[in-house]
Amino acid sequence: MRLRPFTDGDLTLPFLGTIAFRADRWRDAHTRSSVLEVDGHPVAAGIMWTSRVHGDRYWVAIVVEPASRRRGYGKAVFAHLSTLRDAPLAFMTRGYVDDDALGFADALGARTIQVVPPADVPAASRPVLRPHPAVQSVRDLPRAEAAVVDGEIVALALVYHDSTPSCLTAETTRRETADGERLIEACVRRSLDVLAARGVEWVTFDGHVSDPHFLPVWARLSPRGRWFRLVEIPPAGG
Ligand SMILES: CC(C)(COP(=O)(O)OP(=O)(O)OC[C@H]1O[C@@H](n2cnc3c(N)ncnc32)[C@H](O)[C@@H]1OP(=O)(O)O)[C@@H](O)C(=O)NCCC(=O)NCCS
Repeated sequence: MRLRPFTDGDLTLPFLGTIAFRADRWRDAHTRSSVLEVDGHPVAAGIMWTSRVHGDRYWVAIVVEPASRRRGYGKAVFAHLSTLRDAPLAFMTRGYVDDDALGFADALGARTIQVVPPADVPAASRPVLRPHPAVQSVRDLPRAEAAVVDGEIVALALVYHDSTPSCLTAETTRRETADGERLIEACVRRSLDVLAARGVEWVTFDGHVSDPHFLPVWARLSPRGRWFRLVEIPPAGG
């Protein structure tokens, strides 16, 4: 077994799947990638990087060719990446609770940082949410669509159409907004009314469990789908 840097020539390895690999050190000392060879043949690869949003941990992704799984190669790549860290940071990864990736991460000692509940919401479930007279369409406002109280935007719902199904998110402009949950409820109701009128049947919610206004509304809409976890993994070897 031999571990070596990932090169541009490895980009065509057939087992890389959907993970976007780059050559070792493609950006700087925090962006590393490796290949594990057995008898001179690549059977696994791993990549780690810091992102601008989550600069406090290394994202990690590892892939092992299907025929060579459950022989410890994934763990060996992780142990190697742990030695390549330029900063003393832990790793992180994410996935649906029933993904191989998270079973593997759990075996490496993962700790959950964030949980996202099932998020696919049928537009037909919208009658459980109450409308509110403060909610108006963005078209009637200079900047945004929202709940407007005393001339001020206090809550808003936004729908992004750059994925399928469309993605809906909603928030108050301040955490302590009076009636925040009620206003978010009505903003979401209105967005779902508009989408339903356009023939949209499903929308994906974007948020997480710590949201005091969005999650209670989300929970009432009978969301379907899979639970999602973001996890921290301690580096191998301490
Ligand atoms: C996840 C993956 C990298 C694991 O590679 P691997 O070489 O099979 O992993 P290892 O043999 O080192 O497994 C170490 C431990 O992880 C856990 N594990 C590995 N695969 C698992 C799976 N599919 N389900 C549950 N647990 C799993 C087990 O506890 C395993 O120990 P065991 O075999 O003694 O029970 C491999 O399944 C893979 O390439 N999957 C597709 C890509 C992917 O999801 N990558 C994860 C991105 S971080």
